[in-house]
Amino acid sequence: MNAVPKERRRFINSRRFIAVISATVLLSCCVAAWHFASAPRPIETSYHRPDTPAYRCLGCHYYGKSGPKMTHRLVNFCYPCHRPRKAEQKK
Ligand code: HEC
Ligand code: HEC
Repeated sequence: MNAVPKERRRFINSRRFIAVISATVLLSCCVAAWHFASAPRPIETSYHRPDTPAYRCLGCHYYGKSGPKMTHRLVNFCYPCHRPRKAEQKK
């Protein structure tokens, strides 16, 4: 067995530690981006518009009776996730 000096061993281990942490953070970002992008996008109508304020969305999807209920907790912004799409455009 050829002995690796202690200092060298420590250096290799710290580099490995940093690599594992970086990979985990990067993967988490990818999963988060994928999850946000998977939110269904409503078809653009008079009430599904990019400039509709969030309280109006909530009026139907949280407090109101029209439209499907939000399947997640109450948030005060919808835009980046549920960006309305044109009817012919896929989700
Ligand atoms: C006037 C009530 C009303 C308002 C305001 C409204 N919606 Fe809707 N929403 C509906 C109804 C009704 C449906 C179901 C029929 C449809 O898809 O158009 C729906 C469907 C949806 C869906 C599901 C689409 C799918 O394919 O599953 C999402 C997501 C959604 N709305 C988000 C929003 C967002 C974000 C806003 C604010 C910009 C908003 N809604 C404003 C009534 C409303
Ligand atoms: C961080 C991103 C994000 C934000 C912000 C957000 N949503 Fe969602 N929303 C999602 C995801 C992802 C789903 C799908 C989750 C699921 O199927 O359980 C979803 C599901 C929904 C659904 C159910 C659609 C269906 O067809 O069943 C409605 C309605 C909805 N959201 C409305 C809203 C409204 C209104 C707002 C703003 C007040 C909002 N969301 C904010 C990510 C988001």
